[in-house]
Amino acid sequence: MTTTAVYGVHFGDEGKGKIVDFLARDYDIVARWNGGDNAGHTVETRHSKIALHLVPSGILYKGKTNVIGNGVVINLASLKREIEWLISNGIAVSKDSLMISDMAHLILPYYSAIEEKKELTRKIGTTKKGIGVAYALKHDRSGIRLADIEDSDTFEERVKIHAGEYGLDIDAKSILSEQLSLLEWIRQHATIADTVKFFRENRTANILLEGAQGFFLDVDAGTYPFVTSSHASPAGAYSGCLGIKKIDNIIGVMKACYITRVGSGPFVTELGNIVDDKKESVELNEDDDDSVGKYIRVEGREYGTTTGRPRRTGWQDIVATKHSVDAANIGSSFSLALTKIDVLNGLKKIKACTEYRTGNKVMGHFPSSSRELVKCRPVYREFPWAPTDGVTEFEKLPPQTRDYLDFLETETGARIGIVSTGPRRDELIVR
Ligand code: IMP
Repeated sequence: MTTTAVYGVHFGDEGKGKIVDFLARDYDIVARWNGGDNAGHTVETRHSKIALHLVPSGILYKGKTNVIGNGVVINLASLKREIEWLISNGIAVSKDSLMISDMAHLILPYYSAIEEKKELTRKIGTTKKGIGVAYALKHDRSGIRLADIEDSDTFEERVKIHAGEYGLDIDAKSILSEQLSLLEWIRQHATIADTVKFFRENRTANILLEGAQGFFLDVDAGTYPFVTSSHASPAGAYSGCLGIKKIDNIIGVMKACYITRVGSGPFVTELGNIVDDKKESVELNEDDDDSVGKYIRVEGREYGTTTGRPRRTGWQDIVATKHSVDAANIGSSFSLALTKIDVLNGLKKIKACTEYRTGNKVMGHFPSSSRELVKCRPVYREFPWAPTDGVTEFEKLPPQTRDYLDFLETETGARIGIVSTGPRRDELIVR
């Protein structure tokens, strides 16, 4: 009986989907603790590419129970679309394989319009899915939980509160009837239940907890206010999957040699400007930041799974990584899973930021203030690099790669347990 939480070390999009998919085979339950359909977890098999948004990655295996925890916010229309997509692609979704907490909050159709309006002045660069609105209403105590849908008085009363507070002209009854029919459909493919009770009854099960987004997008831990509105750090697993007991292991997933970020907010090691260069091939000049940044984006296929937005790219940031590893280390064992180590195969050297410089001050810690972070410039250490193509054993990685991985382990104090060498399921080195 073991409980493991998997989280993104940086700004999300680290490749958690693939790692959770790999680990899931040894677990009975895979549970998601935060976020909503803003997330996109991709799992690539030899034959297909599967993008999951709300449904935990364990759905790809038979015999697992996948739980959407109480900390997740759910757009029922989008959940229905995802289930339909899975079913039409031969992946079974049933009352036994998918369970949804009846305490999870809903994202109603008008939330995204509220968010778009807020975005005009806040400029966070949200996914425009209404995630922030759902969490804001939850904390403001006028949110609507799944359990509230069938209580028409409560539902209508809350929608009226929202209409009044946001000056919206909305018809509570028609929204209710739409939600009820979505709920009825979802009930045919999933169990909506008290997941606290479920975890209690499955105390001896092996549980894999799956976080969405990444540590620096966590509403408390991240680069506030340029964050999402939920708890992406593993501490959020306790409140977002109420009923789970002690978390034994934490696995931090990060891209081996670089970081990406979508949306606004400080990014100390960012390389070049963000451009929508989806179809371009890149002529690489290793001495030009713009060229390297673009190369990483194209080679790493760094475009949002949910929004298709090109991701900002930058070198590995050890100051940020150490901070994330330190604050997220709440289990009895902590290890790192490195992804996309193959993306920089074309480079002869890579860089990792070891300190920040602001004015004439050099600092080794991650500042709490985003205003301060924006002023930080990276101090880099350079590493020679060599292709990792086709390597299937940790010991057979090129010496350059081993040196860099040793450096990562020494700096973070965390053991590297998994290295992903390509997008496919089987391109994975387990140490
Ligand atoms: P929201 O989660 O839509 O409110 O967006 C808040 C911030 O989090 C924006 O910068 C988004 O780009 C970012 N974000 C949200 N979900 C993800 C994700 O799954 N991966 C990466 N960034 C995300």
